[in-house]
Amino acid sequence: MLRASRRTVLGSAAGLIGSAALPRLARPRSGKVHELGLIAAERPTRLFGEDSPALPLWTYRPEGPPLVRLQRGDQLRATLVNKLREHTAIHWHGLRVPNAVDGVPYITQPPVQPGERFTYTFEATDTGTFFFHSHCNTVEQLGRGLFGILIVEGDSEWPFDADLVLALKDYRVGEDGAFLPFLTDEGASRAGSFGARRTVNGKERPDLAVPAGGDVRLRIMNLDSTRVMEVGLEGAEAAVVAIDGHALTPTPLRSWRLGPAMRLDVMMRAPAAGGEVRLVDYFAPAPVELARLRAAGDTLRRPDFVPWPLLPNRQAEPDPARGAHLRLTFTATAIAQDLVLPDGQVLRYADSLCLADRTFWAINQNSWPEDGHERLPPPLFELGLGRTQRLELVNATPTQHPIHLHGHTFKVLKGRKGTPVHWADTVLLGPKDRAEIAFVADNPGDWMLHCHIIEHQETGMMAYYRVA
Ligand code: C2O
Ligand code: CU
Repeated sequence: MLRASRRTVLGSAAGLIGSAALPRLARPRSGKVHELGLIAAERPTRLFGEDSPALPLWTYRPEGPPLVRLQRGDQLRATLVNKLREHTAIHWHGLRVPNAVDGVPYITQPPVQPGERFTYTFEATDTGTFFFHSHCNTVEQLGRGLFGILIVEGDSEWPFDADLVLALKDYRVGEDGAFLPFLTDEGASRAGSFGARRTVNGKERPDLAVPAGGDVRLRIMNLDSTRVMEVGLEGAEAAVVAIDGHALTPTPLRSWRLGPAMRLDVMMRAPAAGGEVRLVDYFAPAPVELARLRAAGDTLRRPDFVPWPLLPNRQAEPDPARGAHLRLTFTATAIAQDLVLPDGQVLRYADSLCLADRTFWAINQNSWPEDGHERLPPPLFELGLGRTQRLELVNATPTQHPIHLHGHTFKVLKGRKGTPVHWADTVLLGPKDRAEIAFVADNPGDWMLHCHIIEHQETGMMAYYRVA
């Protein structure tokens, strides 16, 4: 009965399901507090089967990357304990948190040294599909597995028959089963160093069960440090319902390009019992099957597949006509550029702990400097609190760059060809392509802005902006 009424509601609203027509939710504070213990440590793990060598993963939990589910309005109190031999910190990617818990060493907090702990407390104000990861020596720490998944529920008016996370990540493991270098000059100066072992939820080509005939929500997450993927599903009807966790008018899924850190929520009608769906990456010389979803159980009887829109998050609507405009140009640097501060002091590029010792990339001629932690470079730009900012992102390189902003969710006014206007926290720039984004600067603080191909980030393609 409930199902029937859902169809009726959607039917009557057909044609006006734009974001403006979507219902708005009040923002309840649930009062619920989730305690989460995250112990960063090296944990040798036989990732590729019992007879594979143990890989020295760095993880937050003994059982592997944590999957945390909250309800909108819940508080998360996550305590990081650092049992690594180097410092670390946790960034909550895509979550609009207060600056003090954004997890960027030297910018928002002191790094958490070996043996120390740090507690991150914030309210989950946005629903959606998010993740968290280390933000120091990220190429190695993330490469070894220091990440977790954070789902904030409460954006669907109707229940799904299943809600499945598909976390895509490659591991840089060589023939001998050991880690390969996480950063190479060859990779960092081009498209990045790829991992050969491709996994979904920590397994190569897993077989995952979905309820036959059911309406299934898939949360497809590109958590790789390097690889741009073009994901698609074969064998089922499916629609994109959210990007980076933010609702979008349901759009039929053909294939979707996901740069590192980008997420896609898909609503799918599972086939009848015994049927299967293939998750495929088409961004490769030959399509690569990443996972299989097998329809299990008695086939559920559902009416025709009509994906329903998710409830949007609260966003201040940017007014691009009135906002400030700024162009950011992403370039390669043939030679590393030192940064000269207004007072004449020179910051040397490169860093051995937080960054690589080479610089290949720059934003508006600035490469993130070496001693950035001793003496911060100035912000790349400053925004007045409450103002609309329009950013034109120009990629002057032949390489793709997924550009991520901390602290704000932005509206992609112009992205890749064929992508609708949507909210996101990361936007993929194609080779020599440009994008245009806009947002209201309503979260005060110093916020990072960088490419999420981590080797690019760590070799110069990083900056920060200030909202005050
Ligand atoms: Cu997920 Cu600064 O990044
Ligand atoms: Cu890049």
